[in-house]
Amino acid sequence: MKFKEIKNNIYYCGLNDCERKIFDELIPLEQGTSYNSYLVKGSEKIALIDTMYLPKSDEYIANLDENEVTRVDYIIANHGEQDHTGALPKLIKKYPEAMIVTNQFCKNNIMEMLLIPEDRIQVIKNNEELSLGDKTLRFLMAPGVHWPDTMFTYIVEDNLLCTCDFLGAHYTFDDIFANDSEELMHSAKRYYAEIMMPFRKMCQKYTKQVQEINPEMILPSHGPIYKNPKFILDLYEDWSSDEAKNLVLIPYVSMYGSVTEMVNYLADKFEAAGIKVVKHDVVTDDLGDLAMALVDAKAIILGGSMVLASPHPAIANAAYLANLLNPKAKYASIVGSYGWGGDLIDKLAGMVSNLKVEIIEPILVKGKAKFETYQKLDKMAADFISRMQ
Ligand code: FEO
Repeated sequence: MKFKEIKNNIYYCGLNDCERKIFDELIPLEQGTSYNSYLVKGSEKIALIDTMYLPKSDEYIANLDENEVTRVDYIIANHGEQDHTGALPKLIKKYPEAMIVTNQFCKNNIMEMLLIPEDRIQVIKNNEELSLGDKTLRFLMAPGVHWPDTMFTYIVEDNLLCTCDFLGAHYTFDDIFANDSEELMHSAKRYYAEIMMPFRKMCQKYTKQVQEINPEMILPSHGPIYKNPKFILDLYEDWSSDEAKNLVLIPYVSMYGSVTEMVNYLADKFEAAGIKVVKHDVVTDDLGDLAMALVDAKAIILGGSMVLASPHPAIANAAYLANLLNPKAKYASIVGSYGWGGDLIDKLAGMVSNLKVEIIEPILVKGKAKFETYQKLDKMAADFISRMQ
């Protein structure tokens, strides 16, 4: 495959992975992803910025050969995770003159994870520059979006910023430049939800930093290149802001329909009050959709049946994920139904202990909701609505 030029001897040399169905063995991929790599040809030195996921590394190296990249002086590792560094062991054999340039944290990671010899790594610090002749690479540490080893590489003379995983999308493409479409926004939000939302405050910080740099283009490690950086920066401003949307998210599982009845009753109340509701069946619906709803929700109500006197594993999984993703929701509660006994409320509440939410009085019923259960549901709905309006 012939490399596409981004600007002035800077080329896209990444690959789509349309076959990949799941990322981190956690969130399903709707259309695969791309692993981006950039070739920067200076007047004196040649650099690769990030490399390739190991299963795609032979194709990646074949493309380097096809494009006659016979010498590489520097391989910039913006981050140690193997979807971008998997090809490093092969590359340092192929290009014996090449030095891997990275920060101390990432150096430790690639030595441990990929057994890269120490003498092939050159450590740089924040704001340090590397000259390629007529081009300069400046390294900007960005710990927290999303690993402690993450850094950005700024191509100074061309005003291009490689932002590593930050601002990326699990998205595949033929045209390397973003079309700023609804479809891309959806993919970028799904990606943000899983990978960046746990670090929401850091996203606020680095969104601002990138806005201040004001690059001509943003070159992320996944998804297309943003020729219009405002597209993705405005989205990150919104998603990472402290303001939640007027939305109640109800992840639920219902073995015999009792929980579904309660969830539907609450949803009708919220919708009648003009509050949007996302009901998410945790058994059949896509986990990525749950993560996306968590980006916006102001309130979360977990609905669960009990299995063997404990929360059903499907709602426990959703609660655990929500706890990890650390959404901005302000209010939460639980509705549940049991057959013969056990502890649903305390166990489920214990699984979301990271959430900084006000807890509205939970409701637990044996079997079906009764007259007094509906009175409690009315009160629960009113308690949420009064806080959200
Ligand atoms: Fe795309 Fe954190 O690796």
